Amino acid sequence: MDISVKAPAKINLTLDVLHKRDDGYHELEMVMTTIDLADRIDLTEKREGIGLESTSGFVPFDSRNLAYRAAALIKERFNIKKGVHIKINKEIPVAAGLAGGSSDAAATLKGLNRMWDLGLTVEELAELGLKLGSDVPFCVYGGTAIARGRGEKLTPLPSPPPCWVVLVKPPHGISTAEVFNAFRLDQVTSRPQLNNMQEALEKRDFSGICQELSNVLESVTLKQYPKVRHLKERMKAFGAPGVLMSGSGPTVFGLVEHENTAKRVMNGLRGFCRQVYTVRMLGGLEEPSLD
Ligand code: C5P
Repeated sequence: MDISVKAPAKINLTLDVLHKRDDGYHELEMVMTTIDLADRIDLTEKREGIGLESTSGFVPFDSRNLAYRAAALIKERFNIKKGVHIKINKEIPVAAGLAGGSSDAAATLKGLNRMWDLGLTVEELAELGLKLGSDVPFCVYGGTAIARGRGEKLTPLPSPPPCWVVLVKPPHGISTAEVFNAFRLDQVTSRPQLNNMQEALEKRDFSGICQELSNVLESVTLKQYPKVRHLKERMKAFGAPGVLMSGSGPTVFGLVEHENTAKRVMNGLRGFCRQVYTVRMLGGLEEPSLD
């Protein structure tokens, strides 16, 4: 049986680091939301082994690939002898702060759950997902949520009101581990106010959401990559009322209420960067799978 699963990207509306933990990870508190920029994972059953192909040359083609690791984990955990060929139809920029790899892994877990009739609940899929990466549990659920702990303790939030998201991805990728390594709490000048963001989402207050956007990892990435700061400033100047770096970067996104403004921001940015996208906010919509 062939199965196709949509793997949407996420953006961070807030990202706060509370402290570094004894296990080396950072205790986080963030608000994440799904956007309508998605990879598609096609799964085809085969006799044995795991095959991998992608429409993009930028994804790793070995066991570093999170979709591959998701399939290996499922096979091992449930002693599945059959194999699967995974095709990643890549639309989400790689190493961009948009959880593209994590979402591919989440989609692979969901697809194999169906292909091999495993009967796993969403909670169980999220628990397995955490073994692959901190953002995978959120990607299993999608929607909008507060994420705490490493990113796996999720509290659902109301979806943002309908709006457009303009994304600009500088040419270089960024290693999340390197950004966290360089992070110093005493270098942070402003931190997210989670209550305010939660209230803005509950009231569906677009201006409030724009005002409360905040990501402490900007203190590392904007310093290391002045281009990211420059793109933020440009995006504001072109008329996006809310602008932030997503995750550990380097992608910068802007929230825009009206389509015409979104087009103006996108066209303006095209002169500065090749990878510019305009998509819808997906917020609370649970994405149906494609098959
Ligand atoms: O969990 P994941 O493998 O996606 O994380 C990548 C890297 O990001 C980790 O190796 C760690 O350095 C950093 N990280 C962190 N604290 C988190 C999540 C990620 O320090 N909560």
